Amino acid sequence: MLHTITVDLPGRAYDIHIAPGLLHQAGERIHAVCPQAALAYVVTDSNVHPLYYPALERSLQQAGLTPVCHVVPAGEASKCPAQLTRLWEGMLSAGLTRSDVVVALGGGVVGDLAGFSAATILRGVDYIQIPTTLLAQVDSSVGGKTAIDLPQGKNLAGAFWQPRLVLMDPDTLHTLPDEVFADGMAEVIKYGCIASEAFFRSLERRPSRQGIMAVIESVLAVCCDLKRELVVQDERDHGLRMLLNFGHTLGHAYELAGRYQTWSHGQAVSAGMVRAAELGVTLGVTPPSIAVRLAELVSAFGLPRSIPCTQEDYAAAIGLDKKGQGARMHLILVDRLGHALAYPMKKAQLLQLL
Ligand SMILES: NC(=O)c1ccc[n+]([C@@H]2O[C@H](COP(=O)([O-])OP(=O)(O)OC[C@H]3O[C@@H](n4cnc5c(N)ncnc54)[C@H](O)[C@@H]3O)[C@@H](O)[C@H]2O)c1
Repeated sequence: MLHTITVDLPGRAYDIHIAPGLLHQAGERIHAVCPQAALAYVVTDSNVHPLYYPALERSLQQAGLTPVCHVVPAGEASKCPAQLTRLWEGMLSAGLTRSDVVVALGGGVVGDLAGFSAATILRGVDYIQIPTTLLAQVDSSVGGKTAIDLPQGKNLAGAFWQPRLVLMDPDTLHTLPDEVFADGMAEVIKYGCIASEAFFRSLERRPSRQGIMAVIESVLAVCCDLKRELVVQDERDHGLRMLLNFGHTLGHAYELAGRYQTWSHGQAVSAGMVRAAELGVTLGVTPPSIAVRLAELVSAFGLPRSIPCTQEDYAAAIGLDKKGQGARMHLILVDRLGHALAYPMKKAQLLQLL
């Protein structure tokens, strides 16, 4: 069954389609939303390319599009200015015009990099997301945030650039390594915490990869719909969209603590959510049972409940330097299962609690 979710942004509405086997229909679906496009500039990575590019290439050709494939090395290091420049150059030498289309086939790295290249080449061309990791399907391919990393930090150069279409084929998830699947589960669990008690309970009833894969289409549809709701109300991330950061502020500290090597983003978010829930309990905002259930659920998916971290790394993650003792911030807390709020506090107060 095909699930379709429409992200209804004024003047830039687009559909997210979810169905097994969708990769094989990509060409006709892309042609339907970009009828003028002659060239499809596909960006993918070195792991995804041998697995899924051949099917995509065939489908694009069958729809009358000319595919050109650009493979970047797998991994976060490819979200960098040098790869972006190579993409721009590749697009121009392939003869890309403003009516053509860029296609991101891969995880969040490919989606962010290809999306930013599409936002900037020739002052912006259409792009299509075909996410192939769980994280990319439930999170990064929806919402139009694109970016690369700079030596000073992650995602520091980027743009809001909405895709014309998102095609999710859950069959691509079968080839994911367990750790990469678990990373995506951290974001899936986050949606339950901040937006839907019923969804959280349904995850508790299926605490394994196999259990989730048995109902994967509805899991993807629920997550995308919850993200859609927040994005439509706050496209530029000035308010409500902030709730999606549950677990991410402290998660950032854990990523720093492991120098971005020891802990993946999903593992850091997992420990960040549990720690935020514990802080919420201390502050009298979060009921204690939520912290316990959350810790149990992340453990079931092999995600950590806690990660050791120094005060220095916490301070760096919340942007607290010696001058900023009075500076304020918002920590996202869950006040009841399926509902979150932005809790205002002084950065120094948070550091003390940690
Ligand atoms: N734009 C946003 O809103 C947003 C939101 C969250 C995260 N992100 C970004 O997403 C990135 C992380 O994304 P990710 O976790 O998907 O990482 P990723 O793109 O690096 O993919 C993880 C690994 O899985 C491999 N892979 C991808 N699909 C596969 C498949 N179907 N089968 C086998 N292997 C496969 C990749 O080659 C890679 O080695 C980060 O850069 C983060 O900043 C962006």
